[in-house]
Amino acid sequence: MSGKNVTEVVPAGPEGIAKAARILESGGLVAVPTETVYGLAARADSDEAVARIYAAKGRPDFNPLIVHVTGLAQAEAYAEFSSEARALAQAYWPGPLTLVLPRRTDAALAEAVTAGLPTIALRAPAHPAMRALLGAVDFPLAAPSANRSGFISPTCADHVLASLDGRIDMVLDGGATMAGLESTIVAVRADGSVEELRPGPLQIASRAAGGAIEAPGQLASHYAPGKPVRLGVTLADKDEFMIGFGPVVGDVTLSAHGDLDEAAARLYACLHEAARAHHPRIAVAPVPEEGVGRAINDRLRRAAA
Ligand code: TXA
Ligand code: MG
Repeated sequence: MSGKNVTEVVPAGPEGIAKAARILESGGLVAVPTETVYGLAARADSDEAVARIYAAKGRPDFNPLIVHVTGLAQAEAYAEFSSEARALAQAYWPGPLTLVLPRRTDAALAEAVTAGLPTIALRAPAHPAMRALLGAVDFPLAAPSANRSGFISPTCADHVLASLDGRIDMVLDGGATMAGLESTIVAVRADGSVEELRPGPLQIASRAAGGAIEAPGQLASHYAPGKPVRLGVTLADKDEFMIGFGPVVGDVTLSAHGDLDEAAARLYACLHEAARAHHPRIAVAPVPEEGVGRAINDRLRRAAA
């Protein structure tokens, strides 16, 4: 940050985007809306700027960042694209898909972005404000979710302030995000096979075999609301804040009519509300393990761990 401890919230219009671009050019930190969750952006080609992301989040330095680009043309400067990888980018970008690919040896990026790995995570986001911002600068943006490490991911500007107020320069406020869950991450291996490292809004690959932690950030405990979470509950105890789904009613509901896309979009807002509530514990209704329900249950298990 540029020596101040006030975090400005600026609407994501043309002026806000121009201001965000100036802050990023000078190495500052801006929380930006994407179609998944808010990201904490810094220029990915600057060691100092990238170091500020790790410091503001309290993120362990072994956990690499996603590099956000305008599209395939820019991405090809940073990673080796096999024909399989190129086909995935063409099919799903811009959108909530992150590709883990071999990092090009001549990639002009901060070393800390990839935390010493030979691979790099790349994504072309679809959110209009983020796309306008990426178009306004001439460098890619490193951006993890805009929350303190281990805490619930942010789907609106208030969520960002809840954990990063005073630690970053600006929030570009584009309202609530649409998908509400972080991007699907897949690695494209040398043999062309595709391995899912993190379930997300897009269902495109089968689960990785085995239980190894493939994406270093996929630790068991994550998205933690700071109090115990009980899953698969149909009847809450008196001291539990209940998050409902479908026929199971609660203090709030993921989706009263059992719609999984709506549940994904509302998951983090419900967890933020549960974290703020006076109840010492949280209960969550069962969510079916189908479609985006897999990603919702993945996040819920980590919130409960
Ligand atoms: O939707 C999203 O993906 C959001 C928005 C802001 O784009 N970003 C996001 O970033 O969720 P983050 O840092 O919270 O999660 C990125 C994940 C981490 O689990 C990290 O370990 C993994 O991506 N990752 C990054 N680079 C990797 C690599 N080279 N190999 C394997 N995993 C990687
Ligand atoms: Mg995160």
